Amino acid sequence: MPDANLRFPPGFLWGAATAAYQIEGAAREDGRTPSIWDAFSHTPGKVLGGDTGDVACDHYHRWREDVRLLADLGLKAYRFSVSWPRVQPTGRGPAARRGLDFYRALVDELLAHGITPMVTLYHWDLPQELESGLPGGGPAGGGWPERDTAERFAEYAGIVAGALGDRVELWTTLNEPWCSAFLGYGSGVHAPGRTDPAAALRAAHHLNLAHGLGARALRAALPARARIGVSLNPSAVRPLTSSPADLDARRRIDALANRVFTGPMLRGAYDDDLLADTARVTDWAFVRDGDLDVTRQPLDFLGINYYSPAVVSAASPSGAPRHDGHGGGDHSPWPGADSLVSFHRAPGELTAMDWPVDPTGLKDLLLEYTAQAPGVPLYVTENGAAYDDKPEGGAVHDPDRVRYLHGHLSAVHAAIREGADVRGYFLWSLMDNFEWAYGYSKRFGAVYVDYETQRRTPKSSARWYAKVAASGELPRAVAEG
Ligand code: FCB
Repeated sequence: MPDANLRFPPGFLWGAATAAYQIEGAAREDGRTPSIWDAFSHTPGKVLGGDTGDVACDHYHRWREDVRLLADLGLKAYRFSVSWPRVQPTGRGPAARRGLDFYRALVDELLAHGITPMVTLYHWDLPQELESGLPGGGPAGGGWPERDTAERFAEYAGIVAGALGDRVELWTTLNEPWCSAFLGYGSGVHAPGRTDPAAALRAAHHLNLAHGLGARALRAALPARARIGVSLNPSAVRPLTSSPADLDARRRIDALANRVFTGPMLRGAYDDDLLADTARVTDWAFVRDGDLDVTRQPLDFLGINYYSPAVVSAASPSGAPRHDGHGGGDHSPWPGADSLVSFHRAPGELTAMDWPVDPTGLKDLLLEYTAQAPGVPLYVTENGAAYDDKPEGGAVHDPDRVRYLHGHLSAVHAAIREGADVRGYFLWSLMDNFEWAYGYSKRFGAVYVDYETQRRTPKSSARWYAKVAASGELPRAVAEG
Protein backbone atom coordinates (compact mmCIF):
# COMPACT_ATOMS: atom_id res chain seq x y z
CA MET A 1 0.00 0.00 0.00
CA PRO A 2 2.27 2.77 -1.22
CA ASP A 3 0.04 5.61 -0.02
CA ALA A 4 -0.44 4.36 3.56
CA ASN A 5 0.86 6.59 6.33
CA LEU A 6 4.31 6.03 7.80
CA ARG A 7 3.77 4.16 11.05
CA PHE A 8 6.26 4.59 13.93
CA PRO A 9 7.07 1.74 16.32
CA PRO A 10 4.74 1.20 19.28
CA GLY A 11 5.92 3.09 22.35
CA PHE A 12 7.80 5.68 20.27
CA LEU A 13 8.10 8.76 22.51
CA TRP A 14 6.72 11.91 20.94
CA GLY A 15 8.06 14.89 22.83
CA ALA A 16 9.22 18.46 22.89
CA ALA A 17 12.33 20.01 24.42
CA THR A 18 13.39 23.19 26.20
CA ALA A 19 16.35 24.34 28.32
CA ALA A 20 16.42 26.15 31.66
CA TYR A 21 18.15 29.40 30.74
CA GLN A 22 16.11 29.72 27.55
CA ILE A 23 12.69 29.62 29.25
CA GLU A 24 12.76 29.92 33.05
CA GLY A 25 13.50 33.58 33.81
CA ALA A 26 13.37 34.24 37.58
CA ALA A 27 17.10 34.77 37.34
CA ARG A 28 17.50 36.03 40.88
CA GLU A 29 14.77 34.15 42.73
CA ASP A 30 14.91 31.58 45.49
CA GLY A 31 18.67 31.73 45.93
CA ARG A 32 19.65 31.23 42.29
CA THR A 33 23.07 32.71 41.53
CA PRO A 34 24.16 33.90 38.07
CA SER A 35 25.32 31.48 35.42
CA ILE A 36 27.85 32.23 32.72
CA TRP A 37 24.89 33.03 30.46
CA ASP A 38 23.62 35.69 32.89
CA ALA A 39 27.04 37.32 32.91
CA PHE A 40 27.46 36.98 29.14
CA SER A 41 24.00 38.24 28.18
CA HIS A 42 24.45 41.23 30.49
CA THR A 43 27.71 42.12 28.74
CA PRO A 44 26.95 44.74 26.07
CA GLY A 45 27.37 43.52 22.52
CA LYS A 46 27.23 39.80 23.24
CA VAL A 47 23.57 39.06 22.57
CA LEU A 48 21.50 40.58 19.77
CA GLY A 49 19.39 43.48 21.01
CA GLY A 50 20.90 43.22 24.50
CA ASP A 51 18.39 40.46 25.31
CA THR A 52 18.91 38.43 28.49
CA GLY A 53 17.25 35.42 30.13
CA ASP A 54 16.15 37.47 33.15
CA VAL A 55 12.48 36.88 32.35
CA ALA A 56 12.53 34.68 29.22
CA CYS A 57 9.19 32.78 29.05
CA ASP A 58 8.67 33.21 32.79
CA HIS A 59 8.37 29.44 32.93
CA TYR A 60 9.55 29.42 36.56
CA HIS A 61 6.14 30.91 37.41
CA ARG A 62 4.07 29.53 34.53
CA TRP A 63 5.21 25.92 34.56
CA ARG A 64 1.73 24.56 35.32
CA GLU A 65 0.34 26.29 32.26
CA ASP A 66 3.27 24.98 30.21
CA VAL A 67 2.68 21.40 31.32
CA ARG A 68 -0.96 21.88 30.37
CA LEU A 69 0.18 22.97 26.92
CA LEU A 70 2.14 19.74 26.53
CA ALA A 71 -0.82 17.75 27.75
CA ASP A 72 -3.29 19.56 25.46
CA LEU A 73 -1.03 18.73 22.54
CA GLY A 74 -1.08 15.10 23.63
CA LEU A 75 2.70 14.88 23.86
CA LYS A 76 4.09 11.88 25.70
CA ALA A 77 7.48 13.23 26.74
CA TYR A 78 9.18 16.46 27.76
CA ARG A 79 12.92 17.09 27.77
CA PHE A 80 13.97 19.97 30.02
CA SER A 81 17.21 20.96 31.71
CA VAL A 82 17.97 21.71 35.32
CA SER A 83 19.58 25.05 36.09
CA TRP A 84 22.75 24.22 38.04
CA PRO A 85 22.95 27.61 39.84
CA ARG A 86 19.32 27.26 40.87
CA VAL A 87 19.84 23.96 42.66
CA GLN A 88 23.46 24.46 43.81
CA PRO A 89 24.17 28.19 44.00
CA THR A 90 27.76 29.08 43.04
CA GLY A 91 28.30 25.46 41.90
CA ARG A 92 29.74 24.25 45.18
CA GLY A 93 28.46 23.17 48.51
CA PRO A 94 24.93 22.52 49.69
CA ALA A 95 21.86 22.15 47.52
CA ALA A 96 19.16 24.82 47.45
CA ARG A 97 15.94 23.24 48.61
CA ARG A 98 13.63 25.69 46.83
CA GLY A 99 15.39 25.17 43.53
CA LEU A 100 15.04 21.41 43.84
CA ASP A 101 11.40 21.78 44.92
CA PHE A 102 10.67 23.59 41.67
CA TYR A 103 11.89 20.63 39.60
CA ARG A 104 10.17 18.11 41.90
CA ALA A 105 6.86 19.90 41.40
CA LEU A 106 7.43 20.15 37.64
CA VAL A 107 8.17 16.43 37.37
CA ASP A 108 5.16 15.52 39.51
CA GLU A 109 2.93 17.63 37.29
CA LEU A 110 4.32 15.98 34.16
CA LEU A 111 3.81 12.51 35.60
CA ALA A 112 0.28 13.40 36.68
CA HIS A 113 -0.45 14.16 33.00
CA GLY A 114 1.18 10.95 31.81
CA ILE A 115 4.17 12.80 30.33
CA THR A 116 7.59 11.13 30.58
CA PRO A 117 10.28 13.56 31.76
CA MET A 118 13.78 13.50 30.30
CA VAL A 119 16.20 15.51 32.46
CA THR A 120 19.27 17.18 30.97
CA LEU A 121 21.72 18.08 33.70
CA TYR A 122 23.74 20.64 31.79
CA HIS A 123 22.39 22.84 29.01
CA TRP A 124 25.12 25.50 29.15
CA ASP A 125 24.33 27.43 32.34
CA LEU A 126 27.51 26.92 34.35
CA PRO A 127 27.46 28.73 37.71
CA GLN A 128 29.43 31.91 37.10
CA GLU A 129 31.66 31.33 40.14
CA LEU A 130 33.00 28.15 38.53
CA GLU A 131 34.17 30.32 35.64
CA SER A 132 35.38 33.44 37.41
CA GLY A 133 36.25 32.12 40.88
CA LEU A 134 34.92 33.20 44.22
CA PRO A 135 35.92 36.71 45.27
CA GLY A 136 38.14 37.09 48.33
CA GLY A 137 40.60 34.25 47.82
CA GLY A 138 38.09 31.41 47.42
CA PRO A 139 38.40 28.61 44.84
CA ALA A 140 39.86 29.84 41.58
CA GLY A 141 37.25 28.89 38.99
CA GLY A 142 38.47 28.67 35.41
CA GLY A 143 35.41 27.04 33.86
CA TRP A 144 35.46 23.99 31.60
CA PRO A 145 39.17 24.28 30.73
CA GLU A 146 39.81 23.27 34.37
CA ARG A 147 39.51 19.76 35.70
CA ASP A 148 37.82 20.89 38.90
CA THR A 149 34.70 21.88 36.93
CA ALA A 150 34.22 18.23 35.88
CA GLU A 151 34.47 17.16 39.50
CA ARG A 152 31.99 19.82 40.56
CA PHE A 153 29.63 18.57 37.85
CA ALA A 154 29.68 15.04 39.28
CA GLU A 155 28.75 16.42 42.69
CA TYR A 156 25.90 18.42 41.16
CA ALA A 157 24.72 15.31 39.24
CA GLY A 158 24.51 13.46 42.55
CA ILE A 159 22.41 16.25 44.06
CA VAL A 160 19.88 16.21 41.22
CA ALA A 161 19.76 12.41 41.16
CA GLY A 162 19.06 12.42 44.89
CA ALA A 163 16.15 14.81 44.44
CA LEU A 164 14.52 13.45 41.25
CA GLY A 165 15.80 9.89 41.00
CA ASP A 166 12.67 8.33 42.43
CA ARG A 167 10.54 9.81 39.65
CA VAL A 168 12.69 10.39 36.55
CA GLU A 169 13.94 7.50 34.42
CA LEU A 170 15.53 9.26 31.44
CA TRP A 171 18.69 11.27 32.11
CA THR A 172 21.24 12.99 29.93
CA THR A 173 24.44 14.40 31.31
CA LEU A 174 25.38 17.14 28.83
CA ASN A 175 23.68 18.93 25.98
CA GLU A 176 25.92 19.52 22.96
CA PRO A 177 29.33 19.71 24.61
CA TRP A 178 30.70 20.90 21.24
CA CYS A 179 28.93 24.21 21.72
CA SER A 180 30.09 24.54 25.35
CA ALA A 181 33.73 23.94 24.40
CA PHE A 182 34.18 25.46 20.96
CA LEU A 183 31.63 28.29 20.93
CA GLY A 184 32.19 29.11 24.61
CA TYR A 185 36.00 29.07 24.61
CA GLY A 186 36.98 29.06 20.89
CA SER A 187 34.88 31.44 18.81
CA GLY A 188 33.51 33.11 21.92
CA VAL A 189 30.00 33.59 20.51
CA HIS A 190 28.59 31.71 23.49
CA ALA A 191 29.22 32.17 27.21
CA PRO A 192 31.70 32.64 28.72
CA GLY A 193 32.93 34.26 25.49
CA ARG A 194 36.60 33.33 25.59
CA THR A 195 38.61 33.01 22.37
CA ASP A 196 41.47 30.67 23.18
CA PRO A 197 41.87 27.56 20.97
CA ALA A 198 43.90 25.64 23.57
CA ALA A 199 41.30 26.39 26.25
CA ALA A 200 38.59 25.10 23.89
CA LEU A 201 40.34 21.72 23.58
CA ARG A 202 40.93 21.55 27.33
CA ALA A 203 37.23 22.33 27.79
CA ALA A 204 36.29 19.51 25.40
CA HIS A 205 38.30 17.03 27.47
CA HIS A 206 36.89 18.20 30.77
CA LEU A 207 33.37 18.03 29.35
CA ASN A 208 34.10 14.42 28.33
CA LEU A 209 35.36 13.80 31.85
CA ALA A 210 32.30 15.53 33.33
CA HIS A 211 30.09 13.26 31.27
CA GLY A 212 31.90 10.19 32.58
CA LEU A 213 32.04 11.30 36.21
CA GLY A 214 28.46 12.54 36.01
CA ALA A 215 27.20 9.27 34.50
CA ARG A 216 28.95 7.36 37.28
CA ALA A 217 27.42 9.61 39.94
CA LEU A 218 23.99 9.13 38.38
CA ARG A 219 24.46 5.36 38.20
CA ALA A 220 25.44 5.26 41.88
CA ALA A 221 22.45 7.31 43.02
CA LEU A 222 19.66 6.12 40.71
CA PRO A 223 17.53 2.99 40.75
CA ALA A 224 18.45 0.27 38.26
CA ARG A 225 15.60 1.23 35.90
CA ALA A 226 17.18 4.64 35.19
CA ARG A 227 18.50 5.14 31.67
CA ILE A 228 21.49 7.39 31.24
CA GLY A 229 22.70 9.03 28.04
CA VAL A 230 24.13 12.20 26.56
CA SER A 231 22.90 14.59 23.86
CA LEU A 232 25.45 15.34 21.17
CA ASN A 233 25.12 17.54 18.09
CA PRO A 234 27.13 15.48 15.65
CA SER A 235 27.86 17.29 12.44
CA ALA A 236 26.62 15.62 9.26
CA VAL A 237 29.74 16.81 7.49
CA ARG A 238 30.08 16.36 3.76
CA PRO A 239 32.98 17.01 1.41
CA LEU A 240 32.35 19.54 -1.36
CA THR A 241 33.95 17.20 -3.91
CA SER A 242 35.54 13.78 -3.69
CA SER A 243 39.03 15.20 -4.19
CA PRO A 244 41.58 13.95 -1.65
CA ALA A 245 41.99 17.51 -0.33
CA ASP A 246 38.26 17.91 0.32
CA LEU A 247 38.04 14.45 1.86
CA ASP A 248 40.84 15.46 4.18
CA ALA A 249 38.95 18.64 5.15
CA ARG A 250 35.97 16.44 5.96
CA ARG A 251 38.16 14.19 8.08
CA ARG A 252 39.47 17.18 10.06
CA ILE A 253 36.03 18.60 10.81
CA ASP A 254 34.66 15.15 11.62
CA ALA A 255 37.48 14.84 14.18
CA LEU A 256 36.86 18.28 15.73
CA ALA A 257 33.07 18.23 15.63
CA ASN A 258 32.30 14.58 16.29
CA ARG A 259 35.12 12.24 17.22
CA VAL A 260 36.52 14.57 19.89
CA PHE A 261 33.46 13.48 21.92
CA THR A 262 32.49 10.09 20.52
CA GLY A 263 36.09 8.85 20.72
CA PRO A 264 36.37 9.22 24.52
CA MET A 265 32.69 8.48 25.21
CA LEU A 266 32.17 5.44 22.98
CA ARG A 267 35.67 4.04 22.46
CA GLY A 268 37.75 5.44 25.33
CA ALA A 269 40.29 7.16 23.07
CA TYR A 270 41.18 10.34 21.25
CA ASP A 271 41.93 9.43 17.65
CA ASP A 272 45.53 9.88 16.49
CA ASP A 273 44.58 12.18 13.61
CA LEU A 274 42.81 14.57 16.02
CA LEU A 275 45.86 14.69 18.29
CA ALA A 276 48.13 15.27 15.29
CA ASP A 277 45.90 17.95 13.72
CA THR A 278 45.83 19.93 16.99
CA ALA A 279 49.44 19.35 18.06
CA ARG A 280 50.35 22.99 17.31
CA VAL A 281 47.60 24.14 19.65
CA THR A 282 48.07 21.82 22.62
CA ASP A 283 50.02 18.75 23.71
CA TRP A 284 46.94 17.30 25.46
CA ALA A 285 48.96 16.88 28.68
CA PHE A 286 45.77 17.60 30.62
CA VAL A 287 44.51 14.08 29.76
CA ARG A 288 45.52 12.04 32.78
CA ASP A 289 45.99 8.31 33.14
CA GLY A 290 42.63 6.68 33.65
CA ASP A 291 40.59 9.60 32.28
CA LEU A 292 39.62 7.71 29.15
CA ASP A 293 38.23 4.84 31.22
CA VAL A 294 36.07 7.37 33.04
CA THR A 295 34.82 9.03 29.85
CA ARG A 296 33.72 5.68 28.39
CA GLN A 297 30.71 4.80 30.52
CA PRO A 298 28.07 2.33 29.42
CA LEU A 299 25.33 4.35 27.72
CA ASP A 300 21.68 3.36 27.84
CA PHE A 301 20.94 5.65 24.92
CA LEU A 302 22.51 8.29 22.76
CA GLY A 303 20.74 11.60 22.09
CA ILE A 304 21.21 13.11 18.65
CA ASN A 305 20.47 16.80 18.05
CA TYR A 306 20.26 17.76 14.40
CA TYR A 307 19.39 20.90 12.46
CA SER A 308 21.40 21.12 9.25
CA PRO A 309 24.38 19.52 7.48
CA ALA A 310 27.82 21.09 6.90
CA VAL A 311 29.71 21.11 3.61
CA VAL A 312 33.48 21.53 3.70
CA SER A 313 36.41 21.73 1.33
CA ALA A 314 40.10 22.39 1.56
CA ALA A 315 40.58 26.14 2.15
CA SER A 316 39.36 27.95 -0.95
CA PRO A 317 38.44 31.53 -1.82
CA SER A 318 34.85 30.52 -2.69
CA GLY A 319 34.14 29.17 0.79
CA ALA A 320 33.87 30.86 4.14
CA PRO A 321 36.66 30.26 6.67
CA ARG A 322 34.36 29.06 9.39
CA HIS A 323 30.79 28.31 10.17
CA ASP A 324 29.24 27.38 13.43
CA GLY A 325 25.54 27.87 12.94
CA HIS A 326 25.23 29.84 16.16
CA GLY A 327 26.46 33.24 15.05
CA GLY A 328 29.73 34.07 13.29
CA GLY A 329 32.23 35.93 15.42
CA ASP A 330 35.78 36.89 14.48
CA HIS A 331 37.44 33.83 15.97
CA SER A 332 37.37 30.25 14.77
CA PRO A 333 35.68 27.43 16.66
CA TRP A 334 37.97 24.94 14.85
CA PRO A 335 41.37 24.78 16.61
CA GLY A 336 44.07 23.64 14.22
CA ALA A 337 41.76 23.61 11.17
CA ASP A 338 40.75 27.25 10.76
CA SER A 339 43.13 28.17 7.94
CA LEU A 340 42.86 24.75 6.26
CA VAL A 341 39.14 24.25 5.79
CA SER A 342 36.40 26.28 4.08
CA PHE A 343 32.69 25.94 4.73
CA HIS A 344 30.06 26.06 2.00
CA ARG A 345 26.32 26.41 2.16
CA ALA A 346 24.54 23.10 1.65
CA PRO A 347 21.82 23.19 -0.99
CA GLY A 348 18.23 23.59 0.11
CA GLU A 349 15.89 26.31 1.28
CA LEU A 350 16.93 28.25 4.36
CA THR A 351 15.31 28.68 7.75
CA ALA A 352 15.31 32.02 9.60
CA MET A 353 18.71 31.01 11.03
CA ASP A 354 20.00 30.70 7.43
CA TRP A 355 20.39 27.00 8.06
CA PRO A 356 19.71 24.89 4.97
CA VAL A 357 16.86 22.39 5.26
CA ASP A 358 18.19 18.91 4.51
CA PRO A 359 16.60 15.96 6.31
CA THR A 360 19.00 13.46 4.73
CA GLY A 361 21.62 14.59 7.25
CA LEU A 362 19.44 13.32 10.08
CA LYS A 363 18.90 9.94 8.47
CA ASP A 364 22.63 9.62 7.78
CA LEU A 365 23.52 10.43 11.39
CA LEU A 366 21.00 7.98 12.82
CA LEU A 367 22.40 5.20 10.67
CA GLU A 368 25.98 6.20 11.35
CA TYR A 369 25.52 6.17 15.14
CA THR A 370 23.63 2.89 14.92
CA ALA A 371 26.82 1.50 13.40
CA GLN A 372 29.17 3.30 15.80
CA ALA A 373 27.27 2.39 18.95
CA PRO A 374 25.76 -1.01 18.23
CA GLY A 375 22.99 -1.95 20.60
CA VAL A 376 22.64 1.57 22.00
CA PRO A 377 19.15 2.99 21.37
CA LEU A 378 18.92 6.50 19.93
CA TYR A 379 16.64 9.42 20.64
CA VAL A 380 16.42 12.53 18.52
CA THR A 381 16.73 14.86 21.49
CA GLU A 382 16.43 18.04 19.38
CA ASN A 383 15.26 18.88 15.89
CA GLY A 384 13.31 21.85 14.61
CA ALA A 385 13.52 25.18 12.82
CA ALA A 386 13.16 28.91 13.32
CA TYR A 387 10.87 30.92 11.08
CA ASP A 388 9.63 34.50 11.21
CA ASP A 389 6.26 33.59 12.68
CA LYS A 390 3.67 36.33 13.03
CA PRO A 391 0.31 36.11 14.74
CA GLU A 392 -2.62 37.00 12.52
CA GLY A 393 -6.09 37.30 13.97
CA GLY A 394 -5.10 35.34 17.07
CA ALA A 395 -3.56 32.44 15.12
CA VAL A 396 -0.04 31.63 13.98
CA HIS A 397 0.23 29.89 10.67
CA ASP A 398 3.65 28.25 10.10
CA PRO A 399 3.51 25.94 7.07
CA ASP A 400 7.31 26.10 6.64
CA ARG A 401 7.79 24.50 10.05
CA VAL A 402 5.24 21.79 9.22
CA ARG A 403 7.20 21.01 6.07
CA TYR A 404 10.47 20.98 8.02
CA LEU A 405 9.06 18.60 10.63
CA HIS A 406 7.44 16.39 8.04
CA GLY A 407 10.71 16.04 6.15
CA HIS A 408 12.74 15.26 9.25
CA LEU A 409 10.21 12.83 10.72
CA SER A 410 10.17 11.05 7.37
CA ALA A 411 13.95 10.80 7.65
CA VAL A 412 13.66 9.33 11.15
CA HIS A 413 11.15 6.81 9.83
CA ALA A 414 13.46 5.88 6.95
CA ALA A 415 16.36 5.38 9.37
CA ILE A 416 14.22 3.11 11.55
CA ARG A 417 13.22 1.11 8.49
CA GLU A 418 16.90 0.67 7.66
CA GLY A 419 17.73 -0.63 11.12
CA ALA A 420 18.24 2.34 13.45
CA ASP A 421 16.74 1.77 16.91
CA VAL A 422 15.23 5.24 17.40
CA ARG A 423 13.01 5.37 20.47
CA GLY A 424 11.69 8.92 20.38
CA TYR A 425 11.76 12.43 18.93
CA PHE A 426 11.85 15.72 20.83
CA LEU A 427 10.84 18.74 18.81
CA TRP A 428 12.93 21.83 19.48
CA SER A 429 11.22 23.64 20.93
CA LEU A 430 7.98 23.46 22.88
CA MET A 431 7.77 27.26 22.72
CA ASP A 432 9.65 30.28 21.40
CA ASN A 433 12.47 31.19 23.76
CA PHE A 434 15.84 32.88 24.32
CA GLU A 435 17.90 31.68 21.37
CA TRP A 436 21.37 32.31 22.88
CA ALA A 437 23.39 34.92 20.93
CA TYR A 438 20.28 35.72 18.86
CA GLY A 439 18.18 36.59 21.90
CA TYR A 440 14.43 36.56 21.25
CA SER A 441 14.82 37.33 17.54
CA LYS A 442 14.60 33.68 16.47
CA ARG A 443 11.46 31.67 17.09
CA PHE A 444 11.86 27.88 17.24
CA GLY A 445 8.64 27.13 19.14
CA ALA A 446 5.68 24.99 18.19
CA VAL A 447 3.94 27.41 20.54
CA TYR A 448 4.20 31.15 19.94
CA VAL A 449 5.17 33.32 22.90
CA ASP A 450 4.17 36.98 23.07
CA TYR A 451 6.96 38.26 25.33
CA GLU A 452 4.98 41.38 26.32
CA THR A 453 2.05 39.45 27.77
CA GLN A 454 3.59 35.96 28.10
CA ARG A 455 0.59 34.66 26.23
CA ARG A 456 1.17 31.28 24.60
CA THR A 457 -0.51 30.43 21.27
CA PRO A 458 -0.02 27.01 19.69
CA LYS A 459 1.05 27.51 16.06
CA SER A 460 -0.49 25.40 13.32
CA SER A 461 2.64 23.21 13.44
CA ALA A 462 1.80 22.34 17.06
CA ARG A 463 -1.64 21.12 15.98
CA TRP A 464 -0.10 19.16 13.14
CA TYR A 465 2.53 17.59 15.40
CA ALA A 466 -0.13 16.75 17.98
CA LYS A 467 -2.01 14.71 15.37
CA VAL A 468 1.13 12.83 14.41
CA ALA A 469 1.89 12.14 18.07
CA ALA A 470 -1.68 11.00 18.78
CA SER A 471 -1.79 8.58 15.87
CA GLY A 472 1.87 7.51 15.83
CA GLU A 473 1.63 7.91 12.06
CA LEU A 474 3.07 10.39 9.66
CA PRO A 475 1.13 11.21 6.51
CA ARG A 476 3.28 10.57 3.46
CA ALA A 477 2.48 13.97 2.01
CA VAL A 478 2.42 17.14 3.99
CA ALA A 479 -1.00 18.57 4.73
CA GLU A 480 -1.18 21.20 7.41
CA GLY A 481 -3.59 20.36 10.19
C1 FCB B 1 20.85 23.76 19.84
C2 FCB B 1 20.69 24.06 21.31
C3 FCB B 1 19.32 24.57 21.69
C4 FCB B 1 18.81 25.55 20.66
C5 FCB B 1 18.90 24.96 19.28
C6 FCB B 1 18.34 25.84 18.19
O1 FCB B 1 22.18 23.80 19.48
O2 FCB B 1 20.95 22.90 22.07
O3 FCB B 1 19.40 25.13 22.96
O4 FCB B 1 19.51 26.73 20.75
O5 FCB B 1 20.23 24.67 18.98
